[in-house]
Amino acid sequence: MEYGKLIKVYLGGEAEVRIYENVVEKIRKPKRYRHPKLDQSLRRSRTRTEAKIIALARRHGVPTPIILDIEGDKIIMERIKGEPVKNVMSKEISREIGKMVARLHKAGIIHGDITPMNMILSDSKIYFVDFGLSFIEDRVEPKGVDLHVYFESLKAGFDNWEELKEAFIEGYKEEYEKADEVLERAKEIELRGRYIEKRLVS
Ligand SMILES: Nc1ncnc2c1ncn2[C@@H]1O[C@H](COP(=O)(O)OP(=O)(O)O)[C@@H](O)[C@H]1O
Ligand SMILES: [Mg+2]
Repeated sequence: MEYGKLIKVYLGGEAEVRIYENVVEKIRKPKRYRHPKLDQSLRRSRTRTEAKIIALARRHGVPTPIILDIEGDKIIMERIKGEPVKNVMSKEISREIGKMVARLHKAGIIHGDITPMNMILSDSKIYFVDFGLSFIEDRVEPKGVDLHVYFESLKAGFDNWEELKEAFIEGYKEEYEKADEVLERAKEIELRGRYIEKRLVS
């Protein structure tokens, strides 16, 4: 695959992401506080896990980039050309996100960072591009945390967050038979957070 010209570089806490015309390179950054040998092996294994989950999600019907290669701590993947969901968010899109998250959770995939920054609208499909914090778990608690993180990102980013949240819930319920249990847990997690906040300020 021709990389094409370099368009943009993102420097996050965990990774450096290089966006080329056709390809994206995601390189896990070294952590200085870890022993170099341990750090190298951790980065390699987390890179492999991320790439595996990206492919697994697609097999369960969630659009993700095609993995082209893995080299040590670097993933080379297809570039998804489209609009960041942040810029095009709507009830319809949030409902579709709900369906896609339901598919992840049914497959036992916890995303770990469901925010509009980590999704791209392309070809009328929602692509999930960042699985850097993902893991495999089939318990209710981490699924509840996943939803809580998404709801908080809606509150922080959109004035009409309430209707976006409702639309997500509709989509999530439509596709997942255990939806009610997870939604209930997400509510509990929100209340726990508020309780802790109160104690911190009083
Ligand atoms: N395959 C991809 N195609 C197009 N854009 C991408 C792709 N992967 C990442 N990006 C863009 O790069 C940004 C950073 O990548 P991301 O995987 O989210 O890194 P981080 O873990 O640092 O958040 C994303 O918010 C997205 O805009
Ligand atoms: Mg990200």
